[in-house]
Amino acid sequence: MTTSQNLVELIHKLPKAELHLHIEGSLEPQMVFDLAERNKVELPYKSAGELARLYDFEDLQSFLDLYYQATAVLQTEQDFYDLTWAYLKTCQTEKIVHAEIFFDPQSHTSRGIPFEVVLDGIHGALARAESELGITSRLIMCFLRHLPAAQALDTWKSAKPFLDRIHGVGLDSSERDFPPRLFADVYALARAEGLYAVAHAGEEGPPAYIREAIELLHVSRIDHGVRITEDPDLLAQVAERQIPLTVCPLSNTRLCVYETMAEHPILDLLDRGLLVTVNSDDPAYFGGYVNNNYLALAEALGPSADQIVQLAKNSFKASFLNDAATMKWLTKIDSVAAELSLRG
Ligand code: HPA
Ligand code: ZN
Repeated sequence: MTTSQNLVELIHKLPKAELHLHIEGSLEPQMVFDLAERNKVELPYKSAGELARLYDFEDLQSFLDLYYQATAVLQTEQDFYDLTWAYLKTCQTEKIVHAEIFFDPQSHTSRGIPFEVVLDGIHGALARAESELGITSRLIMCFLRHLPAAQALDTWKSAKPFLDRIHGVGLDSSERDFPPRLFADVYALARAEGLYAVAHAGEEGPPAYIREAIELLHVSRIDHGVRITEDPDLLAQVAERQIPLTVCPLSNTRLCVYETMAEHPILDLLDRGLLVTVNSDDPAYFGGYVNNNYLALAEALGPSADQIVQLAKNSFKASFLNDAATMKWLTKIDSVAAELSLRG
């Protein structure tokens, strides 16, 4: 299938929000090498090209092994700042005007990097992007689910002095055999402090994990959630309650959740009334940023212009922006789409 030039232009020009982006997953191979040199870290690869050739994953775990290895080059506040700023500059070229960004404090504190160093670096770049680029953001702290819940509680305690800069909590890393229920206590503490709750569920794990995340962690969004197709009752409930799914098409094909993009259910889910959004997850590893995800799904699934517009609108409806900001972007999307269709 070839995507029409009109659809390609629509994808590039529509304002979009990104709601599922691990900042450590935006660490491009060249930056791994630049930071390794700056911090005198020895890498087991000779070049950025050699590293990139290893990005041929068979499942989530094979990716995570490399992802955690590469994060070891991130050491100083400046490193976290540079990483985040590079992502936000890309947002500017992609017309991403709002980003809700995950970070994994435990993958840094476990290496002796203080929590505050990570947060100050990321937050410094977010503040600059809001004032210089007009890009708004929210920060979501993820707990690593392959580690004991007691360590998530310790992480929560380290975060307590900084809650003015953290908007939500999330749950990521290896999903199989690490069900959401293990983290109910730390989520209850975070929600009691007024934080939003989201969780990865139904990426590799069963639909029962989506149900647990909703019922026991009281999440307001599910990250991935694509395995909801296996449970029609749950699907109906999530559609009825308009609980958003932050879907990541290229991630799902790169990690072999689906063999090909043609099998991806995102448009089916959209047609069944689910509030699905398009996101990049770990763009440095999976073949691109948000627009590449739209382009890949357009190429394989042949969406209509209306479906692309709906996906972009969903990204704001599912965001943690207030109603006025959301309305502003929905109106802007309508005017960009109208202008392009008049010309087309
Ligand atoms: N799934 C789970 N954990 C992650 C991912 C993902 O796609 N990316 C970074 N950490
Ligand atoms: Zn993710």
